[in-house]
Amino acid sequence: MREALVRPGLISLAAGFTDNPSLPVAETREIMDAMLRGKGGQPPLQYGTTAGDETLRTLTARHLAQQDGQPAKAKAYQPGRMMITHGSQQLLYILTEILCDPGDLVLVEDPSYFVYLGIMQSHGIRGRGIRLEPDGIDLAHLEAMLEELKKSGDLPRLKALYLVSYHSNPTGITTVAAKKAAALRLLRRYEPAAGHRLYLIEDAAYRELRFAGDDTPSALTFDRGGNRVIYTSTYSKPYATGVRIGYGLLPGPLLTAALRVKGNHDFGTTNLLQQLITRALTSGAYDAHVQTLRARYAKKAAAMVRACREHLPASVNWTNPTGGLYVWAKMPVRMKTDLKSKLFAAALKQKMIYVPGNLCYCQDRVRRRPNREMRLSFGSGSIADIREGIARLGRALKQIN
Ligand SMILES: Cc1ncc(COP(=O)(O)O)c(C=O)c1O
Repeated sequence: MREALVRPGLISLAAGFTDNPSLPVAETREIMDAMLRGKGGQPPLQYGTTAGDETLRTLTARHLAQQDGQPAKAKAYQPGRMMITHGSQQLLYILTEILCDPGDLVLVEDPSYFVYLGIMQSHGIRGRGIRLEPDGIDLAHLEAMLEELKKSGDLPRLKALYLVSYHSNPTGITTVAAKKAAALRLLRRYEPAAGHRLYLIEDAAYRELRFAGDDTPSALTFDRGGNRVIYTSTYSKPYATGVRIGYGLLPGPLLTAALRVKGNHDFGTTNLLQQLITRALTSGAYDAHVQTLRARYAKKAAAMVRACREHLPASVNWTNPTGGLYVWAKMPVRMKTDLKSKLFAAALKQKMIYVPGNLCYCQDRVRRRPNREMRLSFGSGSIADIREGIARLGRALKQIN
């Protein structure tokens, strides 16, 4: 972001920002205007509760149950299990605080969401990376990891498995439902040796931004007792990133602890913005906006993939996303992509930047962080910028070869 400010003309395919021109300005103005008229205008300008607006929690829980094909009365989807947070980022932070002590372990996908890795690092939590396949984590690797931790006596320090399960940041990969069910079974099998619950944190931040294929049921579907899955998501990506309304469904004891911490942070997410989202949901503005976004991101993703085909050499591989905001590209063996690499310097000279892939891998003591991948975002740039950004990357690759 800093580079984009100090270098005019730079095309950033790095930032995870969303599409600017389609932000729902008119819809938001209309909702705000209606909301603040007359006596009804007072409640949104007052404090709310720590857990968040009841109507918003009810609507959100109902929507999730519907997406998962489950009855609204199913235990996992009760609004009483839900809390609203300042972006889902706040919830990820709170979860780390209540679940982990310094020196504890969390299993993450290899690669994973780098801001979550930052939270882990700042809490002194050790990460172990689980290999990824095109349809989600490698279950054999997860099992081998759990077995290894059991043998080494480290299992009691393991607290959770964190999965970015829909159109992941950074890879765009979606975890198939069968793998979520199998991962839960494995965690459960190792609980006696761990001596406590092993939670599955499912980060579904990009679930709504699907533009191809069918939706996938969440891990909540397989957590009938509502004891093991922590589901986190957000209205940031599908409505407006500037609004930052996030939410989560949590097992009871964790919810109590999380609310206590949230009480100390801010005793409630901005009420005005919660009311805005509630009204967007009830008026239909939210659904209409999500449909617009899906069509828009489908076009931008296609433009990026086409540009990759046109401008990148055959030795580079990239993903073809079905949702989310990212293409994940892999350079040929021995070509590095990190901030100090020749490629990053050449790309900067061509006035384009990407997120170096190594930043998305946790520090795992048994392997080096892979260093030949990059995250390319089609979220914020125009189609012309996306095309030109990839063309510049192609020129940078030629230059160092
Ligand atoms: C995977 C993932 N989870 C969570 C978040 C947090 O988003 P927010 O705090 O806006 O809900 C992001 C934001 O980029 C993300 O990529």
